Amino acid sequence: MPETPVNQLTEAEARAELSRLAQTISAANRAYHTLDAPEISDADYDAMKRRNAAIEARFPALKRGDSPSDQVGGALSEGFGKIRHAVPMLSLENAFAPEDVADFDDRVRKYLNLPPEAPLAFTAEPKIDGLSLTLRYEDGRLTQAATRGDGEEGENVTENARTIADIPQQVAGAPAVMEVRGEVYMSHADFAALNARQAARGDKTFANPRNAAAGSLRQLDARITAARPLRFFAYAWGELSSPLADTQTEAIARFTAMGFPTNPLTRLCDGPGALLATYREIEARRATLGYDIDGVVYKVNDLALQRRLGFRSTTPRWAIAHKFPAELAWTRLEAIDIQVGRTGALSPVARLLPVTVGGVVVSNATLHNEDYIAGRNAKGEPIRDGKDIRPGDWVQVYRAGDVIPKIADVDLSRRNIDAQPYVFPHLCPECGSEAIREEGDAVRRCTGGLICPAQAVERLKHFVSRAAFDIEGLGAKQVEAFFADPVLAIREPADIFTLAARDAANPLQKLRNRDGWGERSATNLFAAIEARRTIALNRLIFALGIRHVGEAAATLLAQHYGSWAAFERAMTAATVGDGPEWADLLAIDGVGAVLATSVVTAFHQPAERASIDRLVALLTVEDVARRGPVESPVAGKTVVFTGTLERMTRAEAKARAEALGAKVAGSVSAKTDLVVAGPGAGSKAKAAEGLGVTVIDEAGWLALIGGA
Ligand code: IVH
Repeated sequence: MPETPVNQLTEAEARAELSRLAQTISAANRAYHTLDAPEISDADYDAMKRRNAAIEARFPALKRGDSPSDQVGGALSEGFGKIRHAVPMLSLENAFAPEDVADFDDRVRKYLNLPPEAPLAFTAEPKIDGLSLTLRYEDGRLTQAATRGDGEEGENVTENARTIADIPQQVAGAPAVMEVRGEVYMSHADFAALNARQAARGDKTFANPRNAAAGSLRQLDARITAARPLRFFAYAWGELSSPLADTQTEAIARFTAMGFPTNPLTRLCDGPGALLATYREIEARRATLGYDIDGVVYKVNDLALQRRLGFRSTTPRWAIAHKFPAELAWTRLEAIDIQVGRTGALSPVARLLPVTVGGVVVSNATLHNEDYIAGRNAKGEPIRDGKDIRPGDWVQVYRAGDVIPKIADVDLSRRNIDAQPYVFPHLCPECGSEAIREEGDAVRRCTGGLICPAQAVERLKHFVSRAAFDIEGLGAKQVEAFFADPVLAIREPADIFTLAARDAANPLQKLRNRDGWGERSATNLFAAIEARRTIALNRLIFALGIRHVGEAAATLLAQHYGSWAAFERAMTAATVGDGPEWADLLAIDGVGAVLATSVVTAFHQPAERASIDRLVALLTVEDVARRGPVESPVAGKTVVFTGTLERMTRAEAKARAEALGAKVAGSVSAKTDLVVAGPGAGSKAKAAEGLGVTVIDEAGWLALIGGA
């Protein structure tokens, strides 16, 4: 996709784009992981995550508290018990181009300090497009099975996993504790047969085999899972009481010997050239495999090296997923519609003549913003060679595995002679307020605030969404209907909590006797609302729908302030850019100036503040435990590494120190607590001495952190 190259972004553009990416990626995560209903293609998703990471790498100070780089997967669905993973279930970094594979080899070598001529082997295997599952065996017996969930905590699906024929109930020759990880998937043939059965019964059909597998595994009634043809491939592990082997290949061979299906296309490769050859081999066989794969996974074969390489926040350094390219199709753009979001953003949506792209019918695509339609980036430079997009045009649509796609190109030779350039509205199509575009923002926003019905409805939908108040029986559809209803009149969150009283006070009974609502469903809804009158602080903060405050940021704020009273007091007293409350807010690790400005501004806008106050007066807000620091001798300390380290590379040392709660700085200052100096340390060690900062050597450092 032609976008402003990251190295040409201004800081303001970068900030705006990170904000947009955080929102879009978080919505996509939720759709994919929590609702099993993906809304954007895997390729779009990957592209967004990559761009986000690239912008963060160029502007580290702009990294958000709710950065998508720090998140894996989505929220848990209610209904299953939860299981905390003994070893987190992580995700994989993606590669797209052959250069990315060479780059991966380079980075691994650099981290391990391996010269280019030293051998370094990798495995290559298909990336199965299903959902990951961890199976715990104790003394050879299957005791527990869990989904990935958010990576830290998954759903307990033990009974369901027991119904899958590929998964052994009992294994011989395993360590006393062994967690086997792999992918649950459905074959193409089984998927087609299942959809045919579902359709014949008038039940819902699934969009693709992955959704069918996810929907089948996550059934509260294990008998339904048993009737679904699920399969499993083992490819990784979690907790082990003793090591399985010395290499990835041998570990997988042990799984095979124990009776787990492992993928027959797994190859051992001696470097990037062999990895790319395997990629091409697997890609060539993709169509005839009989199940969906979306790329090839490369892993460092030597497990001792895997251990040294370790993990970044959500991905291992020793593996990478090389994804297959997106699929493309041409179709006609019938119209451009404008949708108004929760924060007033005007988002153009392409309505397409339905077309099949990679097996899925596509009829909508995102058009991003007005510049994108006009054929230029936010700086006014041409994209798509400057070709604009007009209603009636033939456009190239692309997607990879799943739903809402993008437009890649326009075919000017098929443009109608009288086609007119699209004029992006400067008035909100919903409330008529002026829609303005702020300096550095690619998006035009409605200025109507709470008077804009579209914003108000979107805010209400956000308020009742699963990660927010999650009120049973009150979803997006109901909220929309209640908003428009002159009698029920749910116009803002507080109105939800006065609904029962207003209903009871009215002799005609407002909710009961209405289309689709009887005595029983109304009573249930009131009970569900009552149940949420008590709410955890982090959920409340998230639910307020303040711009830039995603789930992760809301949790950071809740953990910092602990109670609503403390949070509210601080936000009321704070001024943007100044004073102790502002400094305290910015001192939260993960809270940047953009987020802080947004929260403080929300609390100082009279209409918004009044709406928050009306709501909170009706609630009991539960405190959240204030987060204690990581416990280690170096937690909270600022450390500087200088000179040559002999037992590990600089990158390894830095990652270790950060995992133990230390901050690693590049230069010595009055804030430095400790300098670790290897041979050849020069000016930094001297500066430390001058400032009276403790200087230790590498052995001293390893002794201190207990990792000698
Ligand atoms: S290895 C530490 N191998 O892809 C990560 N993952 O995008 C261990 N997946 O969460 C994962 N096939 O659900 C691995 N052959 C394979 C895979 C695979 C599919 C999935 C898995 C993972 C996701 C990451």
